[in-house]
Amino acid sequence: MKKIIIILIAITLVIAANAQNIREKICIDNNWKFALGHAGDPNKDFHFGQSLTFSKTAYLQETTLLTNGAESRFDLPYMNYFKDSTWEAIDLPHDWAMKLPYDKNDIKTKGYRKIGGRSPENSVGWYRKKLSFTESDKGKRIYLAFDGVFRDARVWINGVYLGRHESGYTGFSFDVTELVNYNDNNVICIRVDATHSELWSYEGAGIYRHVYIEKTPQLHFADDGVYVRTVSITDRKADLILGAEITNDLNTVANNTVLSFSIYDKFGQEIAKSLELNIPVINPLEVYQAQVPVYLKDPIIWSLEKPELLVAVVHIKRNNEIVDEIKTTFGIRTIEWDAKKGFFLNGKRVQLQGVCCHQDHAGVGIAVPDKVQDYRILQLKKIGTNALRTSHNPPGKELLDACDKYGMLVMDETRMMSSSEEGLDQLKRFIRRDRNHPSVIVWSLGNEEPSLQGSAMGQRVMARMKAVQQQLDPTRKCTAAMNGDWGKGITEIVDVQGCNYFKIGDVDAVYAKHPDQPIMLSEEASTLSTRGEYESDPVKSFYQSYDVEKPDWGATAKEWLSFIAKRPFLAGAFVWTGLDYGGESIMYMWPAVSSHFGILDYCGFPKDLAYYYKAWWTDQEVLHILPHWNWKGKEGKDIKVQCFTNCDEVELFLNGKSLGSKKIAAYDQPEWIVKYKEGTLKAVGLRNGKKIIEEVTTTGEVKKLVAETLENTINKDNNDVAVINIKAVDKKGITVPEADNKLNFYVENGKVTGVGNGNPSSQEADQFKTGEVPCRKLFHGLAQLIVKPDTSGKPMKVIIKSVNLPDEIIVFIIK
Ligand code: GAL
Repeated sequence: MKKIIIILIAITLVIAANAQNIREKICIDNNWKFALGHAGDPNKDFHFGQSLTFSKTAYLQETTLLTNGAESRFDLPYMNYFKDSTWEAIDLPHDWAMKLPYDKNDIKTKGYRKIGGRSPENSVGWYRKKLSFTESDKGKRIYLAFDGVFRDARVWINGVYLGRHESGYTGFSFDVTELVNYNDNNVICIRVDATHSELWSYEGAGIYRHVYIEKTPQLHFADDGVYVRTVSITDRKADLILGAEITNDLNTVANNTVLSFSIYDKFGQEIAKSLELNIPVINPLEVYQAQVPVYLKDPIIWSLEKPELLVAVVHIKRNNEIVDEIKTTFGIRTIEWDAKKGFFLNGKRVQLQGVCCHQDHAGVGIAVPDKVQDYRILQLKKIGTNALRTSHNPPGKELLDACDKYGMLVMDETRMMSSSEEGLDQLKRFIRRDRNHPSVIVWSLGNEEPSLQGSAMGQRVMARMKAVQQQLDPTRKCTAAMNGDWGKGITEIVDVQGCNYFKIGDVDAVYAKHPDQPIMLSEEASTLSTRGEYESDPVKSFYQSYDVEKPDWGATAKEWLSFIAKRPFLAGAFVWTGLDYGGESIMYMWPAVSSHFGILDYCGFPKDLAYYYKAWWTDQEVLHILPHWNWKGKEGKDIKVQCFTNCDEVELFLNGKSLGSKKIAAYDQPEWIVKYKEGTLKAVGLRNGKKIIEEVTTTGEVKKLVAETLENTINKDNNDVAVINIKAVDKKGITVPEADNKLNFYVENGKVTGVGNGNPSSQEADQFKTGEVPCRKLFHGLAQLIVKPDTSGKPMKVIIKSVNLPDEIIVFIIK
């Protein structure tokens, strides 16, 4: 039975009562054991499928079998006594596919990794971990919660089968209260089967997001059951609704339960406190829904420029004692979609300068450490990106945290359209988890579903999904990214029309047909380029960096920016893609193992086009010359030189001699054909009368490596990492564009998590076994290293070595 009580409460400013640490959420990412099983052979899959796995609870599953006439017992990995000493010791997040080789016969869109249906020997992974509980845990409810496993996870604790979760993109949890031993003898075991795909790009394999043990009281908040909604904001006040679901897992009726909220600012100061809501009765096993309308005086507003976050702390009290407490980060802002004028944040029009991103990153695959999420968002912000589409699946929670923290709007996307019980369950988990993030501005309920998007069946499915979305979050609108059938089918249902690629339909016609429906380019561009390459090469699988290459449905950056500039009714667009990702090299095949669509490469290094976007997406002065000026052997030959710039006029000089001046209109890419001679290309630009100078010089040979990182401190906890970007420079400190030196990495008091260089055709190792020396070649002068400290707490020293170059050393303090 569910009840809703709404009481009107004015928030009063009160000094904080001491919050107590009632529930525990313990990250259990460290100290796991891992082994490959087999998707097609039970003998190599720890007898999975040979035992009577589901016939009885727990130990009777250890079926005996006759081997050569003698009875022997299967040794099953979910039994506590199973010996896993030969299994690999790992920490989460973990993507075992990143250590697998490539095979030309494996699936191209998956980046040719030897995983999936064609490589059953690599497609199943088993995980084990020991856990301890104590007498003091008795009486609590205990949950085992997974943020994301790719995919098809079957889970056991202490030999007891808990259940299965197939989706690779939604979190799930099991109530294990009755199944734990209150001692050291607890084992959880997970069989993960990555045979099947959910996307058409690299998807990785394994327990790739965080795992937690959560301990709650018996009368407690439901998982993701607390929400904060902004109803309206005026100058001096914000009206909010705070909601909570309370579960009574006591065997008795819970009488006299009291619910209250407090709101804290970023300094931890309580800025508001609700009156208390009395809930007279909650029956056993009942989930009680409460809502409290409140207002905040002089609210601190979340915006792109100042992403101010607040924390709501909600308490359940009985007999004047706090029995449960949840802290939820949120932000106060308004969002509006207008059919004629586009998208508004806090009453101001914001052009969505968006990018689509898959979740994987160079070196680590889908097991993206939290710090790398921050790094990716910061790199995208540098070029003026203000919106991110989580194509085509629910993202890791930490990605949304980074968007909240740094100010990035999010089009939050579910995996697929579905009105089945399982599909709607995924949708519910996704919305319940993400609805408090101020960065999320729209729910994307589907991407390119050709057989549903234009049909009556699709309409019915979308209507059902929208009803669920509205029930869980009436504050946001929904959209779908359609590649055709615009104006019919699910267009009739979604609030915001999402058009993928203006060239595949008629945006003006659909807008004319639905003049009251907000509309945006939910996916655009798909421009192809490889960092540092200036000629396309199908054999090496490289695309030139000029704004030229694209598939039939795609557009150059100039084409789509010019298109959208004439249509202010479009709320903006999401470029396919922000960063390169694994798999989906289109048109060009092997040896490319990752895509070429990114404005940034797989490591987040800017390609030339990044400067073009920056020129038109920011107010900063941008004058970027391409290509580099190291063309030994091409003396006297014609080289195409362009500037990506927002100057009004640019004059180009080679070694002091003018090559002519060009006037620049919006989105122009001024071009000069220059006979190559080593030296310096200098561009002198004028922007609003101000002179701007940019130079590209022929470099000398590599003299030194330079390592750069976001910060020189690392957290001891939370599996924190450092992202180190390495460049090879000449004696003047200029990056050498053709440098491809091999680098070896040595880490004291830590280890290498992954390496990359942004070369989509590099088939070098991304990760290394114990005993191997981690290494990577530079690609056009750059490489990236992700490192993690050990638990010693001692400073972590990273030494980068390369033949004939001085060692580059970088030291991190552990805090
Ligand atoms: C789109 C699709 C993306 C990606 C892209 C490549 O149609 O939504 O996932 O495949 O094409 O251009």
